Amino acid sequence: MRTDAAPTPTRLADYTPYNFEISETRFDFRLDPKATRVRSLLKMKRTGPGPLVLDGEAIDLVSVEIDGRQLKRSEYRLTQDKLILEETPDVFTLNIESKCNPSANTTLMGLYVSGGRFCTQCEAEGFRRITYFPDRPDVMSVFTVLIDADKTAYPTLLANGNKIEEGDIDGGRHYAVWHDPFLKPCYLFALVAGEFDLLEDSFTTMSGRSIPLEIFVDPGDAPKAAYAMDSLIRAMAWDERAFGREYDLDRFMIVAVRDFNFGAMENKGLNIFNSSLLLADAETATDMNFERIESVVAHEYFHNWTGNRITCRDWFQLCLKEGFTVFRDQEFSADQRGAAVQRIKDVRALRARQFAEDNGPLAHPVRPTEYLKIDNFYTATIYEKGAELIRMLKAWLGEDMFRKGSDIYFDRLDGTAATIEQFLACFETASGEDMGQFMRWYEQAGTPRLTVRRRRTPTKPVISQVVSFKQVTPPTPGQPKKAAVLIPIRWQAIGENGPLMEPQLTVMTTKSTDVSYPRFDEPHSISVLQGFSAPVILNSDATTADLVRLMGNDPDAFNRWEAGQTLARRLLVDFAKALEAGKMPKTNPALRDYCKALGTTLNDPQFDNAFKALVLTSPSSMEVLMEAAPIDPIAVHEAGQWLSRAVADALRDDLLVTYKAMRDKTGVFSPDAEAAGRRALKSRCLALLSARFDPLAASLASNQLDNATNMTDELAALITLSRLGGQRVESSMEAFFAKWKDQPLVLDKWFSVQSMRDHADGIHAITRLAETPSYERNNPNRVRALVGGFSMGNTKLFHKLDGSGYRFFADQVLDMDSRNPSVAARLLGAFEIWRKLDPRRQALVQAELDRIIAAKPSKNVLEIAERTRG
Ligand code: PHE
Ligand code: ZN
Repeated sequence: MRTDAAPTPTRLADYTPYNFEISETRFDFRLDPKATRVRSLLKMKRTGPGPLVLDGEAIDLVSVEIDGRQLKRSEYRLTQDKLILEETPDVFTLNIESKCNPSANTTLMGLYVSGGRFCTQCEAEGFRRITYFPDRPDVMSVFTVLIDADKTAYPTLLANGNKIEEGDIDGGRHYAVWHDPFLKPCYLFALVAGEFDLLEDSFTTMSGRSIPLEIFVDPGDAPKAAYAMDSLIRAMAWDERAFGREYDLDRFMIVAVRDFNFGAMENKGLNIFNSSLLLADAETATDMNFERIESVVAHEYFHNWTGNRITCRDWFQLCLKEGFTVFRDQEFSADQRGAAVQRIKDVRALRARQFAEDNGPLAHPVRPTEYLKIDNFYTATIYEKGAELIRMLKAWLGEDMFRKGSDIYFDRLDGTAATIEQFLACFETASGEDMGQFMRWYEQAGTPRLTVRRRRTPTKPVISQVVSFKQVTPPTPGQPKKAAVLIPIRWQAIGENGPLMEPQLTVMTTKSTDVSYPRFDEPHSISVLQGFSAPVILNSDATTADLVRLMGNDPDAFNRWEAGQTLARRLLVDFAKALEAGKMPKTNPALRDYCKALGTTLNDPQFDNAFKALVLTSPSSMEVLMEAAPIDPIAVHEAGQWLSRAVADALRDDLLVTYKAMRDKTGVFSPDAEAAGRRALKSRCLALLSARFDPLAASLASNQLDNATNMTDELAALITLSRLGGQRVESSMEAFFAKWKDQPLVLDKWFSVQSMRDHADGIHAITRLAETPSYERNNPNRVRALVGGFSMGNTKLFHKLDGSGYRFFADQVLDMDSRNPSVAARLLGAFEIWRKLDPRRQALVQAELDRIIAAKPSKNVLEIAERTRG
């Protein structure tokens, strides 16, 4: 959809309740790929003055009836996106008939066709593309849905809730009627029709009800849904244990589709998944895929309580369901796979994505106050920072109060569309604490900087020492002034042989705070923000000696890892600046200490392999870019390679021994955390060894590729070879393609590896990839693999100084925008870092942003482009 006039934003301050209630909703779908007919029957009751306004987009209205009387054309108004009835009775039955064209729907919002199957995606505002309806989350109703379709082409007919009727009709068609007894807004509606294979299992709930579990997949894929099923059963049990939440409907269904804008969707009783987050087996999926499947299956299931039973009053409250649900899935993964490793991975992702967002032009509060397109607010801030806020709430109130507050929440707000204020009020009731200051976390954008300084008290004799904390949040777009937020700080003094005191919790509520602790005679360091107790950027006066001590002795595993990251980050910033200035980075004592400490961790049998792999992974380029900005991004990238090489030089033998020791000896693949940890450490050793560019790494990688029996090993080897360059790469890439060309999810991996290579002929190679027949321009997974992989993972070609990378990328965004604005706008997020780049590149990106804006893109892309441009 093209826009001319400046579109008006939607504002939180303008919220007004809807002026009708819908006590009952019936839909009747006659499915046809080109012309699907939808009839609705809505039992309406007026609750406030004003016209009846329904949303509708890209659909054709056939007729409107009130209490059985068809309205004349003069009795309603029809605009581009609204159906308006100026006058209605107070209580009436509304019947609407409309038509849509699912096969022409490339936006993948509303009703569309994927692989010959019908499916829907309604969150956030997709239902209006199905039929005229109040498309807002605070209008909740009980839905009954009849689906009628050709029986041979669409043998399976699914919608939310329980199936109450089915049968055959004339003309080779059949029908099914589904009823969902729970109140829900239309964004949770789902309909699926097609030919599927079914994987079945069941779960017995805590009250003894046996729930059939059904996963519907493309014919032949059922075995690949086994891990998702296993994850689902574990998630259902965990939600009962951890939050007392039991499943409510008579059955639970998941459907996998290949064409999907996001990861997955929590439609009531009928989750719809991007197949990339559902299908896995040893040969075609990596450990990271398994891990994501486990967490996303859990996430969508957990939404049944945090999202569906209690939903959002309006889309500004999106973090109410997303922040809490991400927190819940993180806690689930921590329980299943180990808390420290999970926390480290979550924080790495938070820093790479959310910190980048919160410190750039797209910064926005966890609860925004205005938007053009809500699709643009499914962000790392709302999801991941939203989850951090729940985690802080728990740290501050303590485990018991937190559980008490969540019990009150589920009890008090069940069946409603709620706000953040109502959510926090439950924790206020539970704990008696005032939530006023905590609310600022939802309203203020930006990452607070927390400075820590140690000093001695001036009094003599010295009987205590002091740690002083200062907080400041830098301005963000539209928010020049920031107030102090409540920061729970976990900290502890650590000596040569471990902790010297119990862990402390300081709840900081002012701009600065001093905390004193007893004097210790032995040298010690302060471990601050243990477990990453708040989403802040820490600026500490810890010396290299402090950090090395913490790496070896901190009882908090997260901070043992964090100490290494801090050391590495300092080194990387120095290296990057040196490289940018055309100088070679120099070895220095800090580097030697860092490498030595890594070696100590690597060889310490008390740490698990997954943890070691993470310690051996240095901070992402994004973190370094943010700290060293403005800077040449290629210098940042090379600094990373330089550090890896230094580590590999120092630890070559240890890395080789570990690489060999981590090889699988059982011959049986297991996706569990232990086995995945071994493979992660093995891959990490291989990647580090390859940084030396010696023949050893090439031969290890070649062997690994030839002998791999699972995708984790196969892909790690392929990536290593692709970084090493040389003759082996081209033939390996071709062989991989030939082997996997019929498996779309593996082919996505091929495209993403290709997109990140430093091809000899530069952007031409990438352009050629976009022109190969197997590149599916309408499929979001394929586009994300190539265009997303290129913009986020190909530093050299994306940031090439001739501007060819940025130009190609902008062309691809515009091309995608003509078919799928929501996915196009998300891709464009790659430009959010432009102000962190050196001035020449800043100018190049600016020119591309201007070109995109001048091309009159969709509202989605326009909003991101304009906000990014600033
Ligand atoms: N609500 C989904 C989730 O987080 C995300 C989503 C949003 C999916 C919009 C599709 C469209 O679980
Ligand atoms: Zn979610």
